[in-house]
Amino acid sequence: MTDMNLDTQIDAQLDARIEARIEAMTLAEQVSLLSGASFWRTAAIARLGIPAVKMTDGPNGARGEDFSGGVRSAAYPVAIALAATFDPDLVQEIGADLAREARTKGARILLGPTVNMHRNPLNGRNFECFSEDPVLASAMAVAYIRGVQSGGVAATIKHFIGNECELERRTTSSEIDEKTLREVYFPPFEAAVKEAGVACVMTAYNALNGVHTSQNPWLLDTILRQEWGFDGVVMSDWTATHSTAAALDAGLDLEMPGPGKFRGETLVQAVETGEVSAASVRRAARRVLALIDRVGARMSDDLEAERAEDRPETRALIRRAGAEAAVLLKNDDDLLPLAGKKLSRIAVIGPNAAKAVMFGGGSAQINAHYAISPLEGIRAAFPDAEVDYALGCPGDRYLPLVEGPVEIRFFAGTGFSGPPVLTRTGERSEFRWFGPVAREVDHRAFSARLTARYEAQETGWHEIGLMSAGTSRLAIDGRPVLEAWESWTRGFSYFGHGCAERRGRVHLEAGKRYDISVDYACGDGITTTLKAVRFGLRAPSTAGSLDDAVALAREADAVVLVAGLNDDWETEAEDRESLDLPQAQNDLIEAVAAVNKSTVVVMQSGAPVAMPWAQAVPAILQLWYPGQECGNALADILTGRAEPGGRLPQTFPGSVEQLGAITRRPEAHGQIVYSEGTAIGYRGFAARGTRPQFPFGHGLGYGKIEFTDARLVVEGEQITVEVDLFNHAERTGSEVAQVYLMSETGASCRLVAFSRATLAPHEKKSLTIAIPERRLCTWKPDKRQWVREPVPFTLAIGASSADLRILKSLAQE
Ligand code: BGC
Repeated sequence: MTDMNLDTQIDAQLDARIEARIEAMTLAEQVSLLSGASFWRTAAIARLGIPAVKMTDGPNGARGEDFSGGVRSAAYPVAIALAATFDPDLVQEIGADLAREARTKGARILLGPTVNMHRNPLNGRNFECFSEDPVLASAMAVAYIRGVQSGGVAATIKHFIGNECELERRTTSSEIDEKTLREVYFPPFEAAVKEAGVACVMTAYNALNGVHTSQNPWLLDTILRQEWGFDGVVMSDWTATHSTAAALDAGLDLEMPGPGKFRGETLVQAVETGEVSAASVRRAARRVLALIDRVGARMSDDLEAERAEDRPETRALIRRAGAEAAVLLKNDDDLLPLAGKKLSRIAVIGPNAAKAVMFGGGSAQINAHYAISPLEGIRAAFPDAEVDYALGCPGDRYLPLVEGPVEIRFFAGTGFSGPPVLTRTGERSEFRWFGPVAREVDHRAFSARLTARYEAQETGWHEIGLMSAGTSRLAIDGRPVLEAWESWTRGFSYFGHGCAERRGRVHLEAGKRYDISVDYACGDGITTTLKAVRFGLRAPSTAGSLDDAVALAREADAVVLVAGLNDDWETEAEDRESLDLPQAQNDLIEAVAAVNKSTVVVMQSGAPVAMPWAQAVPAILQLWYPGQECGNALADILTGRAEPGGRLPQTFPGSVEQLGAITRRPEAHGQIVYSEGTAIGYRGFAARGTRPQFPFGHGLGYGKIEFTDARLVVEGEQITVEVDLFNHAERTGSEVAQVYLMSETGASCRLVAFSRATLAPHEKKSLTIAIPERRLCTWKPDKRQWVREPVPFTLAIGASSADLRILKSLAQE
C-alpha cells in the first residue's frame, strides 16, 4: 500500500491513465462506479483491475462496517470538543491518527468531518459539528482534513448544506439567502476545498431553498465546482438521492449506499434513451476513478479483515486532547486544581460519574477499545484520598442495557420459521443494523430471538423496558411482559425508525436466575434501512438516591459531581426538546452544592445546557464527550497535571427564550427559514443586546494572563495584529487571543482570527496574528461580490466575544 499524500494534484499523466480506463469500459461498467456496490463500498471492476474502495463513518473515530458491536476502534473527542481547543495543530494530529484508524478497518474514505453550523443548540448532532462561528469551523475543518488526507485516506466533508436541524431532515427545506450562505454556512466547505483539497463532499438530506441538495445544480456545479474549483467526488448522504438524470446532471457523482436505486440498470437505460448524456456518466466515472487513484486503493484492500489496534500513542493523544478541550467555565477562589489541597475524602457523584460517556448517538458511535469513567480516572489520580461514589439520580433516557452475553438467533422471513440461519452472541442487550445484517441473513425479511439469563442482585420491583425499529415482544421465563408488536408505532428512537420505549415493572428475587427473551421481526414496510432492538432493566437500588448523595457530599473535603447528557439524549435524526437537564439532575446539583462549598460540577454534553444553579456552585468544567480517555483527561485537569485548555466554540444561552427567532420545529410546508440571517450564536446575542449564560470564546485557564498591549500593522491590504500577553501566575497557563471585527456601535461583532499561546510562570509573549483579507469583507448581494468593510471599523482583541480587552480603530492607524 502506498502512503500517498492527497495534497498532490491530479496531474496530466493521471488524466491520461483515467481517460484510457474510461475508454476501455462498457457503459454498464462506467455506470457501476456511480453507486455503491454495497453499504460501504464502491464497485470494483475486476476485469480492468479497478478495486473497490471501502468507507467508514467518522467523525470521532473510524467505526468500520458494523453499525454496532463491530471491531473495536479508538474513540476521539467529538467535534465540538476539538473546536474548543482552538488548536488546529492538535486537530491535524488527530486527523492523521484517524487516517491510521480508518486503515485498520480497511477503509480509504472517512465520512467526516461534519461541519454544519451550531445554529440551533437543540440540534441532535450539535456534538458532531465544530462551531457556531465560520472562522473557527473553517480552521478546524481544514486542519482535520489535512491530517486525515496526509495519511492516505480521503476525508468527506458533510453535509452540504443547511443540515442544521435533524427533525424531519429528509423532508425539510432550509431556506437560506445567498449572503447568509456565503458568510456563515459555506465557509468551512469552501476552505476545505480551497485550502485542504478535500477529496469528497457529502450532500445533505434536506433541500436547499426547495431543491434537494443532491440534485441542486447551483450548489453542486455553479458554487462547488465552478467557483471553488472542487475536483473530487460528490456523494449523497445515505439514501438521499432522489433522481437519475437531475442528480447526475447537477453533479452528484456517487449514490450511496449501494446497490443504488437510481443508478445501475436505470441509469444505463436513461443513457440509451437519451435522457442522460454519456458524457455526464463519463465525467462522474472519471472523478470516482481519480479518487480510487488518489487513495492508492489496491485490489487486495477489499480483502483486508478489520482489525483493532489499541495504541499507546493514540491513548496519549486522546487524553491530551480531552484536557485541552475541556472548558473551565467558572473557578471561584481557585477551587481547581485540587492538587495541593488537603483532601482525604473526595465524593464523586452523579449519573455520568461511574460510566464513561464518550460520544453522542447515531452514525458517529463506535465500539470503543475501552472507556475510562470519571470515577476510575479520579481514583487513579488521587491514590492517597478515599474516593467514594454515589449515583444521586439516573441520567439515562432509556433503561440501562443488560450487560453480559445476549444470544441472538436469526430466522429467514419474519415468522421465526425453520431452524436459525445464524446464531451470534452480543456483549449487551442491544442490536442495531444499518443495511446488511450478515451474509446468512436477508436483511429485507428476517426475525430474531434474543435470549439472556439475568441473575437478580436484589429482591424488589425492577423496571424493564423494550424498544425497537421493527416489532418486538419481551417475555420473562416464558411469561409475556412487554410488547411493541400490535401496538408498534413510529416514535423518535433509532433515527426516527423506532418506537417509544415500552416500560413495565417486574418483581424479581435476589439470587434467582431469569430467562429474558425477546422476539424481534424486521417489520415489512415499517423500516427500510435501519433495524434495531434493545431491552433494559433497572434494579431498585440502582436508581440512585438524592439523600445518599447529599450525605456523602456533606462528609467529603471536595465533591466532583459529573452530570449531563449522553448518546440517548443527543443523537442523530432527533433534536432535543429543551436546553434543560433532566430536572432530577438540577435538583441533585443544587442539593449537593448546598452542603459542600468545594463542589466542582463537571458537565458532559455536546451542546449547551441551561445551568440555573451556576451562581450556587464555585466551579464548573464543561468536559463535552471526550472519547475513551474520558476519566483520565478529567483527572489530569482536577490534579492540575493539565491545563483546562478549552474555550467555548458555541454560546451557552441561559434559556431557550434567549434564542430569538430560532425554533426547534420546521415551519409550515417543512421549511426551516433562516430568517436571522448571519446573526446566529454570539452574533445574535450582540444584535439583540442580551447576555448569554456563558459567551462564545469563554474559558478560564490556570494561569493569570493579561493582555498588556496590542498593535495593528497595516501593509497594503494586509492587516496583522500583534498582541502582548503576560502571565502573572506562578504556574503555566494558556490563553486564546481572539480578534473580533466590531461595528462602531458594537451591535455587530464577528471573529476574524485567533491564536492560542501557552505561557510559563511570569512569561511575556507576543503573538502575531494575520487576518486573511476575506475575513474583513462582507458579501454584497447587489454587487454579487465580496466587498471590504469600509473604515472606520474596530478590531477588538480579548479573551471571549464578551471580554474584549483592547480596541483598535483602523481609521486611526
Ligand atoms: C448520516 C451520515 C453518515 C451516513 C452513513 C447518515 O445517516 O447523516 O453522516 O455518514 O448516515 O452512516
